[in-house]
Amino acid sequence: MTVSPDRKSEDTAPDPAAGALPRHVALIMDGNGRWATARGLPRTEGHRHGLEALRRTIRHAVKTGIRYLTIYSFSSENWSRPQPEVSFLMGLLRRFVQRDLTEIHNANVRIKVIGDRLTLEPGIRALLVEAEELTRNNTGMTLVVAFNYGSRDEIARSVRQLAEEVAAGRLAPEDIDEDAIASRLDTAGIPDPDLIIRTSGELRLSNFLMWQAAYSEFHFSPVHWPDFDEAAFDLALSDFMGRERRFGGLTAKAL
Ligand code: FPP
Repeated sequence: MTVSPDRKSEDTAPDPAAGALPRHVALIMDGNGRWATARGLPRTEGHRHGLEALRRTIRHAVKTGIRYLTIYSFSSENWSRPQPEVSFLMGLLRRFVQRDLTEIHNANVRIKVIGDRLTLEPGIRALLVEAEELTRNNTGMTLVVAFNYGSRDEIARSVRQLAEEVAAGRLAPEDIDEDAIASRLDTAGIPDPDLIIRTSGELRLSNFLMWQAAYSEFHFSPVHWPDFDEAAFDLALSDFMGRERRFGGLTAKAL
């Protein structure tokens, strides 16, 4: 497998140059249910095939040289789904970690989990910790698994931590700036996503990386997640590479 340069020197590097690959791609894997319903199958079959698409996508991202891949696997709002579907998704996460961790580790991929772990079942929490510990020193792609993740919840937890530090006298209110908030988010140390891909034709962010998406580019794919393949991924990458990013400034042409 192709492994790109060491991560450490890269985290502080400027954003990718125009026409370059995105350094960080984040994925909203939508449409499992519709994929299944269109085939007369139960929704859980859509999630099962969704896991296959996820495996394919991770392999392709590593091969392409993406440095960070974030996957929205279970949102803090997904608890409102019927209990059997929630249990199935929890089981799928277990299966993913148990069956794929060795391959992921061998591909030099580092796993990082974001989201609220405290309300997860202890067995799942332990699996997530195991995945992070095993892959901690890997220097290839970072796979960020957003599980029980919601952006508003993440921001609220960061702000609560700041309030506690102020109350304890360790932080002055005037020292609270953007960096102080960002460094207390689950994504501290991870560059913001350059490209966010959402499948299945929906045009929403759905409480995903709202702070981090300030200057992200978006690609909306009509494909239902279980059908997302290398060609659909490459299409999103070339769409991104054709964009001009200004980060609130002006283009060289306009100056
Ligand atoms: C959205 O489709 C998808 C999810 C809520 C779960 C995403 C899960 C996977 C891609 C499988 C891998 C899972 C883990 C935990 C590693 P939807 O059910 O909202 O589809 P719909 O909008 O068509 O109903």
